[in-house]
Amino acid sequence: MSLPTSLSALIILISAAAPLASAAGPPLTDSSKCGCFLTNGTESRYFSHHAFYDFRSQSQYAGVPPVISDAASSAGAPVTSKFFSSSAWTNDWIMGNWNNSQGGRADAAVFMVHSPNNVYIEANDNKGGKPDTWLTFRTQRFEKFQSAAEIESLSKAYQFLSVRMLSRTFGGKGAITALFTYLHSENVSEVQEADLEVLTKGEDNIIHYTNQPGYSADGKLIPQATVNATMPDGLKWTDWAIHRLDWTPTRNTWYVNGQQVAQISFQTPRDPSKIILNAWSDGGQWSGNMSVGDSAYMQVQWLEVVFNSTDTSAGHSRRRQIEGRGSSVSNGVCNSSSRWNFS
Ligand SMILES: *[C@@H]1O[C@H](CO)[C@@H](O)[C@H](O)[C@H]1NC(C)=O
Ligand SMILES: *[C@@H]1O[C@H](CO)[C@@H](O)[C@H](O)[C@H]1NC(C)=O
Ligand SMILES: *[C@@H]1O[C@H](CO)[C@@H](O)[C@H](O)[C@H]1NC(C)=O
Ligand SMILES: *[C@@H]1O[C@H](CO)[C@@H](O)[C@H](O)[C@H]1NC(C)=O
Ligand SMILES: *[C@@H]1O[C@H](CO)[C@@H](O)[C@H](O)[C@H]1NC(C)=O
Ligand SMILES: *[C@@H]1O[C@H](CO)[C@@H](O)[C@H](O)[C@H]1NC(C)=O
Ligand SMILES: *[C@@H]1O[C@H](CO)[C@@H](O)[C@H](O)[C@H]1NC(C)=O
Repeated sequence: MSLPTSLSALIILISAAAPLASAAGPPLTDSSKCGCFLTNGTESRYFSHHAFYDFRSQSQYAGVPPVISDAASSAGAPVTSKFFSSSAWTNDWIMGNWNNSQGGRADAAVFMVHSPNNVYIEANDNKGGKPDTWLTFRTQRFEKFQSAAEIESLSKAYQFLSVRMLSRTFGGKGAITALFTYLHSENVSEVQEADLEVLTKGEDNIIHYTNQPGYSADGKLIPQATVNATMPDGLKWTDWAIHRLDWTPTRNTWYVNGQQVAQISFQTPRDPSKIILNAWSDGGQWSGNMSVGDSAYMQVQWLEVVFNSTDTSAGHSRRRQIEGRGSSVSNGVCNSSSRWNFS
């Protein structure tokens, strides 16, 4: 298999270490010996797998594709660069192309179509600024439909994790940008989901954290399911910040730049789930409506996950092989000489 240089670089980063988030850990070269990962915070736990997706130095894939104004061609649009057709990407992620004509939210008022064309590597327009590039999720309102963006993990086998992203959101009112775990159920009362959502119609320093469902089947708000938290240090969600969810067996805990902002034990997801990132709007009560012609964006410099997986066959054991680690947890304890303190 021959990969363009920077895709190889992506894989190397997956197998090496997280330059930013692991600042407190041992030197990067030591991480190859890691058998497990210990998170910090109030719900410190061990995890046996790690993945790091870096979107910061991918200039050869950068380009903003013109938005597709026709709903029917949106869903079937090709990926926006070879970055998204490489096995380094497709082994772990699926591009969303579904629409809400069936099974959308009950109060959806606008036809919404997810398009691979709305997920792209974008160059920093501040020439010479750092980083060179990031991953952008775009959602835009047309008169007849809302064009939306989503990626889903291929694996549905994440069972407990600590996921972080360095991201920001901006754009017109009436969009949602989100990072969440998800286990589908036809019965909305049985969906399991740990949500981190930015509402662009809302206040510019509030993040909405929910152990779904946030509403009962008859539409009543379930107040214990949600925390609307203020970002620390005067930050707004238009600022770059490290957003983090720790999903552990008894509760979900969310952090912004390492500071805990929310914790919910009510309705903590129990079963293996996937990871989803998206930018969308459906004209319902939760997102609101975007004005025709408006767009909103979530931009991500990097995404990092330490996790356990119930998938012992394909994807995640492949990850173990690539990383050459994940095997040193015995009796629930990390071998301290192979442990990576993962803050
Ligand atoms: C985890 O450690 C990092 C690096 O030392 C620190 O910045 C962060 O605040 C810590 N987070 C928690 C929740 O303790
Ligand atoms: C919307 O999804 C349905 C299947 O749920 C599909 O039949 C239809 O072609 C899709 N429409 C568009 C515009 O993508
Ligand atoms: C949906 O799930 C809830 C909670 O488990 C249950 O009470 C309800 O009966 C289910 N509804 C249907 C139609 O199965
Ligand atoms: C959180 O914010 C949403 C959207 O503004 C609001 O509908 C909801 O009532 C708030 N929930 C809590 C628990 O404050
Ligand atoms: C959004 O606009 C549609 C009409 O296009 C309307 O039916 C719906 O109620 C609006 N949604 C909200 C939350 O106001
Ligand atoms: C992850 O798996 C390891 C190894 O089985 C175990 O020691 C650890 O407690 C698990 N972490 C969580 C949060 O369940
Ligand atoms: C811990 O891991 C190191 C490095 O993999 C190994 O050399 C050592 O024997 C292990 N110690 C125990 C007690 O398993």
